[in-house]
Amino acid sequence: MLVECLVFGLISWSMTEGRHEVQQVFAESNSKVVLPCVCNASSPAITWKRNQGTVWRQEKSGMQFWGYKWLQRGAQRVRCPHPQLDRGDCSLHINDVREDDGGMFVCSFNSGGQSETRLVMLRVITVSFSSVSPVAGMKVSMRCDVSPQPVGASVQWGLNNSTFVSTSGENPKAAQWTVEETASVSLTGKWTCVVAHQGLEGRASADLTVKGILHPSRDDVVMYAAVGRAATLPCVFSPGLSPSETSWHKPSGPLPPSFSSSSPASKPAWDQSARLGNVSFEDEGIYRCAGVVGGQSLSRRMQLVVAKVGRSVSWRKTVALTCQLTDTSEVARYQWVHVTFDPSGTPLVEPIQEGKTLYMTNGNDEGVGDWVCRFYSKEGLLGNVTHRIIPQNGPLTESTSPFNNTSMALSLSVLLVLLVLIVGQLYRHQQWRTQIFHFSALETILHARSNERDKGQKCQEKK
Ligand SMILES: *[C@@H]1O[C@H](CO)[C@@H](O)[C@H](O)[C@H]1NC(C)=O
Repeated sequence: MLVECLVFGLISWSMTEGRHEVQQVFAESNSKVVLPCVCNASSPAITWKRNQGTVWRQEKSGMQFWGYKWLQRGAQRVRCPHPQLDRGDCSLHINDVREDDGGMFVCSFNSGGQSETRLVMLRVITVSFSSVSPVAGMKVSMRCDVSPQPVGASVQWGLNNSTFVSTSGENPKAAQWTVEETASVSLTGKWTCVVAHQGLEGRASADLTVKGILHPSRDDVVMYAAVGRAATLPCVFSPGLSPSETSWHKPSGPLPPSFSSSSPASKPAWDQSARLGNVSFEDEGIYRCAGVVGGQSLSRRMQLVVAKVGRSVSWRKTVALTCQLTDTSEVARYQWVHVTFDPSGTPLVEPIQEGKTLYMTNGNDEGVGDWVCRFYSKEGLLGNVTHRIIPQNGPLTESTSPFNNTSMALSLSVLLVLLVLIVGQLYRHQQWRTQIFHFSALETILHARSNERDKGQKCQEKK
């Protein structure tokens, strides 16, 4: 609170009110403030007045009196602490400053037999809203009041410690005493009005809570899910709200089969999040959740992007795992990691490579485990998708793909056919050769016989 006094009880000097110097003090309403008065008084008689009414007074005897307005349920809102009075400091401490406390304060004391006065102008800054917790879509106005209002002062609005930029794009709005906006969840937070006047700055803040759909906080947030896994589509209203006519909608077609929006009894009425029990690649797209609060229709549009691992095997038995997403517009890079589990079940994550596609040799036991593709935006991790390889006796699951079997069988049969053909050819060749031999043998016999027959005829002719 002391810090607040120092921060908000800012002081400046200016020459007004004739020959008297007037100190300007800005204070935020409901804070503490110190009105300065250096009295150097040897005499303990001091009076603080505001607009002619006594605020606090101390007599020579040391008796203290309070003005009625400055007593709050019997307790004093103003005081001049004794230790500081002894040091010649008659500053007035005010607790819980109110808007109507603003005005000209006069500190009077006696110094060397002369009556002296000091003037302090207290200006109380108050931030207020037309409604403290409006529902998104309603009109809401933010007001900055200074009491009393200084002539020629300027104002600047801030929201959550940065200069407020109006959604309507008119930035001069930030320099108006009253700002009107259409309420949205993004206007929730600490509104600060900074008042500048004659080189002096004062400020006040107040919290605004806009009710509506808090999560996702805006439209078109992208959600990532992996094929075969469960996913949540968030739709969380402000705590305490009971939206009516709640619904989920997929503009491009029917809701997926594994979609469930019925909230279990354990979930509060303001949580209308939906669940996809088993995500498939086709579930991607735009989803919209809606509900009615205080007559205002609220809705959120979000995009579901689904990731899967594509797998292909080349003829050299190289397996390629590719990270595939239904929308890659936010993705800046991919990373593959290999996750194995030690006997105690602790996962061991080993980064393997950057890039979308991972090549691995098929059939060795090192491939066992989870191959996880992580995808990142420029800001950070978006999600991951896992391809699991289960250990088996003999070759891995990967090596027993139907494509490999067929090619193997095909080449074997080709070989077999070739072999059969060759053997057949050889056999036929052998057959032919034996036949030739038989024929030539027969020929000799026939030839010999005919010779004999010729000789016989000749003999008979001679006889
Ligand atoms: C994958 O994402 C899930 C859920 O976000 C997370 O629990 C898990 O640790 C991630 N795995 C890896 C290897 O990054």
